[in-house]
Formats: sequence, C-alpha cells, structure tokens
Amino acid sequence: MITLGEFKQRRKALMRHMKKNAIALLASAPAQVRNRDVEYPYRQDSDFHYLTGFDEPEAVAVFASGREQGEFILFCRKYDETKAIWTGKHAGLEGAKEKFGADEALPIEDFAETLPTLLDGKQTVNYPIGVDKELDRQVMAAVNTLRGKTRTGAKPPEEFVALDRLVHEMRLFKSPDEIQTMRKAVEVSVHAHKRAMQVCRPGMHEYQIEAEMSHECMRHGLRHSAYPSIVAGGHNACVLHYTENAAQLRDGDLLLIDAGAEFGNYAADITRTFPVNGRYSEPQRLLYELVLEAQLAAIAKIRPGNTWIQPHEEAVRVLVKGLVKLGLLQGRVYKLIRDEAYKPFFMHRTGHWLGMDVHDVGDYKIDDKWRKLEPGMVLTVEPGLYVPPACMDVDEKWRGIGIRIEDDVLVTQKGCEVLSAALPKTVAEIEAFMEAGR
Ligand code: GLY
Ligand code: MN
Ligand code: MN
Repeated sequence: MITLGEFKQRRKALMRHMKKNAIALLASAPAQVRNRDVEYPYRQDSDFHYLTGFDEPEAVAVFASGREQGEFILFCRKYDETKAIWTGKHAGLEGAKEKFGADEALPIEDFAETLPTLLDGKQTVNYPIGVDKELDRQVMAAVNTLRGKTRTGAKPPEEFVALDRLVHEMRLFKSPDEIQTMRKAVEVSVHAHKRAMQVCRPGMHEYQIEAEMSHECMRHGLRHSAYPSIVAGGHNACVLHYTENAAQLRDGDLLLIDAGAEFGNYAADITRTFPVNGRYSEPQRLLYELVLEAQLAAIAKIRPGNTWIQPHEEAVRVLVKGLVKLGLLQGRVYKLIRDEAYKPFFMHRTGHWLGMDVHDVGDYKIDDKWRKLEPGMVLTVEPGLYVPPACMDVDEKWRGIGIRIEDDVLVTQKGCEVLSAALPKTVAEIEAFMEAGR
C-alpha cells in the first residue's frame, strides 16, 4: 500500500513542477446517487487520491508552495458524532492532519470564503479547468472578488493552468509501492480467472461465472471491480463492451472474460477466452493461436526506447498475415494493413496505460510523436479477433467467434514483465487447467 511518506513526496513533486508563485486546487469526487436514498459505493477521484490518500467526498485539497502556515491545506467535513453513528468513520479536521498529513485542515463550508485570500497575490492557479462545475464557479467567483478589491491592494491571479496534465504525467510512472499494489490487484484477478476456467460447464449462465469471480475477489478483500466484468459466451464476445452477462453458455462455444479487480485504488485488466466445454474446436484453436501469436509478438516489442505504438503495429502485422493464411482476408499483407482491411475483425487498439484508472492517464504522444516506453510504465496488451456472426465474407466456420487475450505488462529497465503471467494462456495450458478442474 502507499505510505503517508509517498503521498507527501507526490505533493512535493507536484509543487516542484508548478511555476513559481502558483497554487493548485483539486476537489474530491462527489458521492453519486444511484436511486432514492441509495448511493453508489464511494470511489475517490483518482488524482485526488493520488495526491492525498483521502477517500471522502466534500473535500478540496490546496497545494501552496512556500506558504508559511503550511503547503497542504485540506478542506473537509468536520467530525460529526451523528454522522459517525449513521454512516461510520470520517477523518474530521484532526484526522485530516494526523492521518493524512495536512498542514492545515479547515471545514469545507469555509472553502468559498477562504479562496480569495488563498489566491490573492498568486500569479498562477493550477486546477482541473472545466472538470468540476462547482470548483470552476468558486474559482471564478474568488477571482472576481479579488478584482473588485484591486484598489485596496488585492492581486488576482492572471494565469490558469490545467492541473491534470502535471498530475497525469506523474501518475504514468509507477513507484515500487504502486507496482506492489498493482501486483496484488493482478494476483487476485488471476485467481478469479482461474476459478472461472475451472467451474465453467455448458448450461451455466454467464452471471454464474461472474458470481464465482466476484466471490474469489471478495474473499481476498477486493470488493470492487476496476470496471464492469465482461463475461461473454459465443458471439456475445463480438460485442466489445458486453456487460449483460445473462446468457446461457453452450457446449461448443467460447467464453470471453474481461475482468479485473481493484485494490487500493489500482486496477487489474485481464482477458482470457476459453472453450465452455474445455476443448477448443479446430477453427477456434486456429484463431486463438493467431491472437496469441500477435499478443506475444506485441509483448516482445515492449522495452525502454521502443515507442508506444510498436506493440500495436506488430500485433496488426501478425494478425493480418494470419488472416490471409486462414482465408479470412485476401490480398497483399502491406496493402491490407495500409487500407486497414483488418478493422472489421480487429477494431480496437492493442492496449492502453493501466493504473488507478483502468484506461489510465498519461499522454500517448509527445509533440505529435508516439512517446517512448520507459521503466515504470504499465500497459495492457490485448489484441483480439471478432468475426461478426452475420459476416458473409468469410467461411461459416469462423462466424461468431470472438477472442481477446489481455495481459498487464510493466516496462522494466531491460524489457518488460508480464504481471498476469500466472494465468494459463496457451491452448495446451488452458485445456490442461480446465481438465484438472473437472
Ligand atoms: N476492460 C476494458 C479494456 O480492456 O480496455
Ligand atoms: Mn480488459
Ligand atoms: Mn484493457
């Protein structure tokens, strides 16, 4: 887990990256109502958590480099006995200082009236412009208050900078403690996928498999998924964001599962595609092995110095060659790649950054060029093939097959490490593992 010291270091690093005479503001995520009197489980905004570790709503963090009374001010809810009885613990002002290292803690009700004083004389305000309407409004109101007082010496800020860019660049590089946290999210998710492989039988419903996976995660204390699980039997796998998970699993079909748990606010994101009855049919195996070849080739391109796009380009090359060989595409490989003729079967990118958000933050391009991979970055590698059930351009035997294989990969000094490597992946491994569970 992340220590108080690391949260502090992050705040220091942020302040170092800010311009001189600047201040930064960040609001917590609001609690979200699901329906009358019922809220969704609370999840803190990832940037807010990254800089504070403070997981309560109704809070604003202020970072003011060089401020004498303290550089980290946390506006939050005061401790309230009644609230503690109804909804449980909250830090209160004392807790904000003691447990979260705030130099100063003030009641959230006082934020709007304190803001002009905080901004007075600052040249630059860093905040997530246009993200939180209430914060936008409060910042503008504070600036206008200062403008109205310039004759008495007030100095409103002149420059507004998007805070997200600075924080997101920091978040892209994972520290050893972040990597440890991600390992745990991945490890438990691997257990959940293994359990799915071993309990799966024809006739079960997709939600029953989902339930087994949730059970496995929850019994390890990971109560939340990083995103809604995709448990897609047969041609449901061709719907990329299928989350109904309601169909019955048929003998002879494949089952695609894309699921990952969240641990300490970090995500795992793993996909496997295996046969409902434990044995791949010949067409399923041929397509599966092609996707696997593409995935391994993409992973082999992950090392410092290579660009972000190289694994994707490699995956596309392998897939197109294979699709031609199997007869799903006709023509010259380079032309099919140039014309994106593979897109009806492979319509998404081969991966994304992974971290506190499943589609994590961080630029993919710098100055319009694909950025280079560097140690500490974590990304997914997830090529797939999806043959639409009604695709009349291909032989009937391929139709309705949807396959994706997704692993979570850490860029290391020398190359990379597949964090989810413990999960069976080859045809032989999966068939043997499923057999062992029967
Ligand atoms: N689970 C979402 C994704 O793979 O990107
Ligand atoms: Mn996924
Ligand atoms: Mn993914």
